[in-house]
Amino acid sequence: MAGLPSNNRDSFGSKFGVIAAAAGSAVGLGNIWKFPYIAGVYGGAAFLFVYLGFILAIGIPIMLSELIIGRSSRSNAFGAFKVLAPGTPWRFIGILGVSAAFLILSFYGVVAGWSLQYIMLSIQDGFSSKTPEEIASLFSSLTESTVRPVVLQLVFMLLTGAIVIVGIKKGIEKYTKILMPLLVIILIFLCVKSLTLDGAKAGLEFLFKPDFSKLSGDGILSALGHAFFTLSLGMGTLITYGSYVQRDNNLLSTAFSVTIADTVIAILAGIAIFPAVFAFNIAPTEGPGLIFITLPNVFHQMPGGFVFSILFFILLTVAALTSSISILEVVVAYFKEEFQMNRKVATVLATVLVSMLGVLCSLSMGVLSPITFFGLNIFDLMDWISANLLLPIGGMFIAIFIGWIFGRKKVQKEVSYGGHLSGVLLSVFMFLVKFIAPIAIAIVLLNKVGLLSF
Ligand code: PHE
Ligand code: NA
Repeated sequence: MAGLPSNNRDSFGSKFGVIAAAAGSAVGLGNIWKFPYIAGVYGGAAFLFVYLGFILAIGIPIMLSELIIGRSSRSNAFGAFKVLAPGTPWRFIGILGVSAAFLILSFYGVVAGWSLQYIMLSIQDGFSSKTPEEIASLFSSLTESTVRPVVLQLVFMLLTGAIVIVGIKKGIEKYTKILMPLLVIILIFLCVKSLTLDGAKAGLEFLFKPDFSKLSGDGILSALGHAFFTLSLGMGTLITYGSYVQRDNNLLSTAFSVTIADTVIAILAGIAIFPAVFAFNIAPTEGPGLIFITLPNVFHQMPGGFVFSILFFILLTVAALTSSISILEVVVAYFKEEFQMNRKVATVLATVLVSMLGVLCSLSMGVLSPITFFGLNIFDLMDWISANLLLPIGGMFIAIFIGWIFGRKKVQKEVSYGGHLSGVLLSVFMFLVKFIAPIAIAIVLLNKVGLLSF
């Protein structure tokens, strides 16, 4: 194609392929496992609304920014800044992103390992005839044990590495076309069942009736961090994927479609979980185990729940895989292009390093739980540093880069290749990336370190 460097990089075959890959990256454990768990911890509806505000005002503009940086530079998250702003420190955003990828994948693989375990438990019909208390202790005895969750995490990382070696395009498109709608359908069934449980109303109120007095500075920071985490933003995932996007793709509509899919799936997960949480007397503040101790109770009250639960955990694992490969790809593209490694070596190295950190995350739920930093175990620490610190900081610089360095003219040129951005919309976008996103992120972070308080 004219104007493109002919360095024979991969590119996505079809327009749908791009949306599929970006949606595959976005939709994952963040929506179904993490969103309900942190919404529960930070008070429900108030958290939800702040999170939605961040998605709109910061998430969508930064997603578009990353796609623009990726497509116009055709490079990985680190190299992109070397192409667009040679000889400047901007490339350190790439380093920040690669570090975030490491930390995120280390605990992500652990949770995906739990999901693998729940596929097996479902197949053995392991939840039926169990009381809510027994289901809860099933989860803690699994996650606190030493060998099994480590092995399952390694199995999941092996799968991730294997897919990244083969190349990320194959399979993703099929997943998003067939399996993602199937996941949505199962979630809808779960919502219906959950809503008809006794006591469901309390759950709905928890999720949708905000009590902003319950919202703490920590809650706001987590909502911000989660907006980045769930949309795969702030660490160059979408720079990397954007670099594979053809010029005829409409970046703005890609950003919108992906954001809508991701948000709808998170809200469905919330509707499936919270009514059941209240119906079965589970604490909304339960933590990382929330879905694993809530949903099995719902499954075993559903006609056909046996089949549903097998399918659900399979789909959850697949959703986790299409996200984990996008995280690993950031590291692999960086190793490959900056250290001239071939894809195989880069992938094996990245997978081994991440898995080692992942083993520590897994053990920190059990034998290593006495080791804490600022009151957080290793698992929570990796999550906290990446989602609440590295991603928002990365996102802030990405917004500043597009707003102040890349500039309106080049933005307009890049987005109009495959689409059209009206002058008004362009102005809104530029205003958001120049001012709103950086300032809002800075305020939330400064509030956390105590330099500013509200
Ligand atoms: N967005 C993914 C999810 O919600 C997680 C992710 C974070 C993927 C960062 C890529 C980069 O599960
Ligand atoms: Na997500």
